Amino acid sequence: MTVKPVRLDRFLTEMTSLSRTQAREAAKRGRILVNGVPVRRTEEKILPGTDRVSVDGEEILYTAQEYYMLNKPAGVVSATEDERYSTVLDLIGEKKRKDLFPVGRLDLDTEGLLLITNDGAMAHRLLSPRRHVDKVYLIRYEGTLPADAAERFERGIVLEDGTETLPAVLELLEGGEAGGQARLTIREGKFHQVKRMMEAVGCRVVYLKRLSMGSLVLDENLKPGQYRPLTKQELEDLRQI
Ligand code: URA
Repeated sequence: MTVKPVRLDRFLTEMTSLSRTQAREAAKRGRILVNGVPVRRTEEKILPGTDRVSVDGEEILYTAQEYYMLNKPAGVVSATEDERYSTVLDLIGEKKRKDLFPVGRLDLDTEGLLLITNDGAMAHRLLSPRRHVDKVYLIRYEGTLPADAAERFERGIVLEDGTETLPAVLELLEGGEAGGQARLTIREGKFHQVKRMMEAVGCRVVYLKRLSMGSLVLDENLKPGQYRPLTKQELEDLRQI
C-alpha cells in the first residue's frame, strides 16, 4: 500500500484528539514538530509513517489502523448498527472511518472500557477463548455474598445452564447483608458472564462497569460516552498479547 502525503492538520485530527482549530493553534505556538523542526502552518504536507510528527514532545503514531478507548455509557449497544438503540459507533462520530467496530460486547446496561478499532487481527487476538485475556469489572450487587464466594469463583463455578467457568478472582470492596461492591477478574467472555456468576452465588448485579481488558485500563478521565485514541504505549502493550 503506498502512503500518500497528507496535510498536517488532517493527520493530526485523525491520529489525535485535536480538532483542526486546536491543531492550527498548537502549530502556531510551536508545539508541533515534524522531524524535530517546529511547523507553524498545518496546511503543510507530511508523509505519514516516514515523517516523525510530535505534539508537545510526544510522538504521534501513524496507523492505517485506528484504535479508540471508549467509556461506554449504559443505554447504547455494542454493535455497529441497531434498529432500536444508538450504537457505540454513533458515539465515535461521523468524521471517523466506516470500518470501525467494537471489540467484544458489553450489555446494554453495562458501562466502561470498550476498544473500538478496525484492526480485525487485534480483535481476534483479544477475544480468542484460547488466550484468556483478563477482564476486570466493578460490580454493585444486591443480596448477601456467601463467605466462600471468592473460593468458589477461584475454583470455577457452574452456571445455571451447566456451563463451567474458568477460575476468576473476586475481591470484595464493601459488603453487607443487602448488597455491596466487588471487583471481579474473569478470563473469558461468556454471554452475561459476570451477571450469571453473581447469580450463581445468590446475588443480583445492579451496576456493572468494565475497568480493564488485558493491559488496557479505562482512562478515568473519560466520562461515560467519551473516547480518545489509544496512546502509543497502550497500543504497544496490547500488541504484546
Ligand atoms: N458480563 C456481563 O454479565 N455483562 C457484561 O456486559 C460483561 C460481562
